[in-house]
Amino acid sequence: MPRDARILALANQKGGVAKTTTTLNLGVALKDMGARVLAIDLDPQSNLSMSQGIDVEGLGHGMYHVLTGATPIADIIDVREIDIAPAGIELAGAELALSAAIGRERSLERALRPVRDLYDYILLDTPPSLGLLTINAMVAAEGVIVPVQCEYLSLRGLAQLRGTLQQVRENLNPAVDIVGILPTMYDGRTVHCREAVQMLEESFGDRVYRTRIGKTIRFAEAPVEGTSVIRYEPQGQAARWYRQLAREVAASPVGVALPGGLREAAA
Ligand SMILES: Nc1ncnc2c1ncn2[C@@H]1O[C@H](COP(=O)(O)OP(=O)(O)O)[C@@H](O)[C@H]1O
Ligand SMILES: [Mg+2]
Repeated sequence: MPRDARILALANQKGGVAKTTTTLNLGVALKDMGARVLAIDLDPQSNLSMSQGIDVEGLGHGMYHVLTGATPIADIIDVREIDIAPAGIELAGAELALSAAIGRERSLERALRPVRDLYDYILLDTPPSLGLLTINAMVAAEGVIVPVQCEYLSLRGLAQLRGTLQQVRENLNPAVDIVGILPTMYDGRTVHCREAVQMLEESFGDRVYRTRIGKTIRFAEAPVEGTSVIRYEPQGQAARWYRQLAREVAASPVGVALPGGLREAAA
């Protein structure tokens, strides 16, 4: 029997920390390792969809229609560098549309069921908030990857994210936890940046990935061409960083919240 996909949410309520960039480039790097990858755009700003050249204005049905139960997810998947379930601006209305629905926090989990065994990884790109869309991602996921900018101030926001995750664990998905912290826009030449990563390692230990994603303009250039940095400049530094991250993600145990054997037994 085919195994179900590992579902990983990319979350951080701060904007501009590289959630979308990481969703796409980690996805492409995992695909290059032979995995079947689906990435889901849960942000009404549609950055993930647009970064793959999808015309979101002309989008008939997107994640809004999937979450509200109008369309099966298989019907909206667009095959690009990786498979993408796109979103348009109407997704901004999903929180309101779902607010009175029973099981509103499980809409995504439910929607993913029919495609779970078709992929090895399903990556969830979330908006910069801890609202219902991000909670849906935390409920559907086995783990959360948190990209963080190497700044003291961005570390403080992690307490709030952990608080939300704790509530999700208590009420909705006991197994979900942070599986990896990814330092992004890393500049090892500044003391502040090195200290910020040190503080992360003090709180999160080996859940901080060894990979550091440095700063380069390539990350802004590639989406304009509708490609990942991995296709844009395959031999460049940016591509290498994300290939290294993909190897770390692939090597990490499935779900750290439950020990391996337990998780298999629970499945
Ligand atoms: N490592 C990086 N170095 C420089 N710019 C980056 C890097 N990662 C992402 N960016 C740029 O920063 C902006 C925000 O990234 P994005 O992935 O959209 O963040 P988020 O999804 O968390 O809001 C984008 O313009 C992106 O191209
Ligand atoms: Mg984004």
